[in-house]
Amino acid sequence: MAGSPKRLPIYSILQIYLVSILCLQYVVADDYCKATPNATPGPQDPPLPTLPKSFQTRIEANIIDRHYTMAAVEYVDDDNNRAALKMWKNGVETDVFFDYDNNQLFSIVDNMCVVTNLSSDPNTVIFGGGDTPPGGIPHVYTTAGVLHFAKQFGEVYQGKATIRGQQANQWRSCLFWPNVNANFTVDYYFSDPSWNTSSTMTAVPLRADVNGVYVIAQIEPVSFHHVYDFIDFRPTVPDDPSLFETPPGVSCGGRKKVRDMPKLKNSYYYREEIISEDSQSITQADVWYNYDWKLVRYDKRAQIAQAPYWNLNPITEIHDYNTGVAYAMDNVIKNCTIMPIENATWDSTFNGSTNYIYLRNPQSLFFLDSSYSYSGQRKARGIDCDVFTSTRTDFDNSPTVFEMYFLSDTWYASDNKGLDQTTIDIPIRLTVTAANDEAYPTIYELYDFDQEIPDIQTAYDVSRCYSDMDKIDFRITFPTTAGELLNEFRAIFIDKSIQLISSLAGTLSLVRITKAEVHWNDNNVYLIATLLDKAPPIAKFRKQAGKIYQYKNAMQLQGVQDPASCAEQCDSSDQFTCNSFDICAGKQICSLSQDYASDGSKLGDSLECDHYTRVLNTRVDQEIALNDAWIILTDQVVKGTFQFTILLDDNTKQVFKASDITSDILRNPNRQASKTALQHFTGSANKEVKGFDDLILTGMSVDDCANECLGEVIFTCQSFEYCYDTGYCVMSQQHPDERPDLIQASDHCDLYTRQYTAKFTETPGVTVLSASDTIYQNIFTDNQCAKLCVDYSEFDCKSFDYCPNINTCFLGKKTCI
Ligand SMILES: *[C@@H]1O[C@H](CO)[C@@H](O)[C@H](O)[C@H]1NC(C)=O
Ligand SMILES: *[C@@H]1O[C@H](CO)[C@@H](O)[C@H](O)[C@H]1NC(C)=O
Ligand SMILES: *[C@@H]1O[C@H](CO)[C@@H](O)[C@H](O)[C@H]1NC(C)=O
Ligand SMILES: *[C@@H]1O[C@H](CO)[C@@H](O)[C@H](O)[C@H]1NC(C)=O
Ligand SMILES: *[C@@H]1O[C@H](CO)[C@@H](O)[C@H](O)[C@H]1NC(C)=O
Ligand SMILES: *[C@@H]1O[C@H](CO)[C@@H](O)[C@H](O)[C@H]1NC(C)=O
Repeated sequence: MAGSPKRLPIYSILQIYLVSILCLQYVVADDYCKATPNATPGPQDPPLPTLPKSFQTRIEANIIDRHYTMAAVEYVDDDNNRAALKMWKNGVETDVFFDYDNNQLFSIVDNMCVVTNLSSDPNTVIFGGGDTPPGGIPHVYTTAGVLHFAKQFGEVYQGKATIRGQQANQWRSCLFWPNVNANFTVDYYFSDPSWNTSSTMTAVPLRADVNGVYVIAQIEPVSFHHVYDFIDFRPTVPDDPSLFETPPGVSCGGRKKVRDMPKLKNSYYYREEIISEDSQSITQADVWYNYDWKLVRYDKRAQIAQAPYWNLNPITEIHDYNTGVAYAMDNVIKNCTIMPIENATWDSTFNGSTNYIYLRNPQSLFFLDSSYSYSGQRKARGIDCDVFTSTRTDFDNSPTVFEMYFLSDTWYASDNKGLDQTTIDIPIRLTVTAANDEAYPTIYELYDFDQEIPDIQTAYDVSRCYSDMDKIDFRITFPTTAGELLNEFRAIFIDKSIQLISSLAGTLSLVRITKAEVHWNDNNVYLIATLLDKAPPIAKFRKQAGKIYQYKNAMQLQGVQDPASCAEQCDSSDQFTCNSFDICAGKQICSLSQDYASDGSKLGDSLECDHYTRVLNTRVDQEIALNDAWIILTDQVVKGTFQFTILLDDNTKQVFKASDITSDILRNPNRQASKTALQHFTGSANKEVKGFDDLILTGMSVDDCANECLGEVIFTCQSFEYCYDTGYCVMSQQHPDERPDLIQASDHCDLYTRQYTAKFTETPGVTVLSASDTIYQNIFTDNQCAKLCVDYSEFDCKSFDYCPNINTCFLGKKTCI
């Protein structure tokens, strides 16, 4: 019985006994079994009952010669070609799982799992080993299960018996097993068919009694006596797949992969619910991750009132691993702090003793790597998942079991985000459990997992972190009649524009182009967006207060007053790569160094100096300042080189080439005109008049525009359009009432029409037509008639009559009645 070296002792003990009754390699033994030599069943003898293909039973094994008892519960699932056995001895549980499809057996004691080949491991004899089909894997049902006794042993009916008070039939076989040179008698007891069992089955197994001798290694024969009681035998398996699955939190190294662990893409979004049974708490977070852009956004609620929030408000943190800068935003107060990315933040990792950090890669964000082994299929939230398990020491400095549940590839997930309809290979749940610990796992339920590039505009908007002084709002005009295409390609147009601006202006992080929108009319397409300043250089350095990096200065600058200025000097130094600096406030000395000096041991103490080290490990590109970026951008537009192409559905290309750029706009001004303005004008939302543009003023509020119209002296301003996206004020000397046919819809401007009737009191139904001195025809509104009256100079027009049915306007000298 030299088993596999890894085999668990507890298991092999039971195995010996089970082997004794089950192995099919026995031959009939003459010598030992004096009672039934060469037995053949009599013609009247009842046959040995057969067993169902799937069943469950409890077993009590009394190993009489050794003075102990083992208990077991066994499940055999023929439909799914698997079986499981749980055993208890001396209070220790051993679980054994049989995976016939993959010819593997998993033995688990104390959360430690050992994997063996089912066919080559001696354990296999429990379930068979004799009738291996040619070239195949031994199958429990072709070779008989624990109780699936074959009939070729020459069993002999022994008559009636009573087992645990139940009426039973008894059969006996005499066996010889050459491997261990064992000779023994096996007595089988099945319930009498007239006895009603607890299940639907008649004649269930009740007991096997094994009694004999064996010889190992040529020592004296040892006698043995084992009694197996089968209790609660049922011809069914419970409808609970988890009975056949290796338990959560146990990794079986070397387990055959039915599926390779999926690889996550370079960018994704997900929502997570973090469940901690230990602290009986649930917390939620949203994550937008893009490895190519080196950006992460994390939305959560602060759990502790600490820097930089000092409250428990919901927050958004955007980490820019291009620069090492974090944008920390409070979503209630709506304020923002720009700071270095914290040391040891969940999305970063660092290398050995160094303290500079990297963005974790898409796999490493979930600690996924080659150490995971397949753990079979399990359900999470009712979803079939393929589970992968790893026991690792790189988390919390103690052995920890990570289990990732990936959506089974037989399932289909449809998300409500992005272009891709389906989302495959997605994580559903991650559990993290301290190994060898009674602690509950921390469960990360992962929802809405979408492996697409998050929208830069909505996902990574840091505009809130900049004051108006640090922003430039601008409008780029593309003269083209292709605007209608943007009904379909609006998002692509904005995306292309942002990428182009970012690339043209050198090192301009994508997060610095925000609030982009596009409008168009018959002649032009307009891109409106906001350009942000670079993050302050000080935010790229982590502070170590009261420390100094002695005698390691590449350059010393005098008269530098604050850390921000010293950081500016370090970051913009082009003679060498400046990676750290000391600032001594009192002496106003700023010392720049090429070295990283984040390792505290290299630093000396100082009363008046502080040390600052770069957050990231490599020299990061110097982000271009706002005004320099603006100059480059305007230059490109003026030179006519600001252009890009959109590939249309029919594979034709549409080129968009900018002709004009202006920063003279007012973004998101108040669209609502004041009451005073509305005394003189009637507003029509989202309307404009083609060609009514005698004077265009920019960057105005709607009330300013109304005042400009009233006060215009060069021409009589009869109407204006107010474009609330840019604060454009477009005035006209024509009255829209005169050309109602020219009024059209506008997606970003409102039309205001000069109001004349306000000066008159309406007396409906009363006319003084006969008294009229002047008559106009083809007048379409009372307002137009009122305007004629106001503008009339032949006499002082005091009243008018307007008859809409005949489109006629009558002016009068007198106020009527
Ligand atoms: C068992 O039976 C075999 C075959 O009859 C015999 O050779 C052997 O000695 C027996 N062993 C013992 C321990 O009685
Ligand atoms: C287990 O079986 C596989 C094939 O199924 C074989 O490649 C491997 O060598 C076997 N391992 C042992 C220890 O027998
Ligand atoms: C035993 O089962 C039979 C058939 O189902 C039934 O008719 C009979 O009443 C049962 N006897 C008892 C004692 O339950
Ligand atoms: C927002 O303002 C509050 C109150 O001034 C302050 O305590 C908090 O630190 C600020 N939060 C951020 C993220 O700037
Ligand atoms: C950064 O975090 C690591 C890991 O927690 C720690 O060993 C190191 O001392 C920290 N460095 C600083 C400068 O705080
Ligand atoms: C850690 O740093 C060393 C030396 O710079 C480098 O060779 C190694 O690849 C780094 N390891 C990781 C995981 O980045």
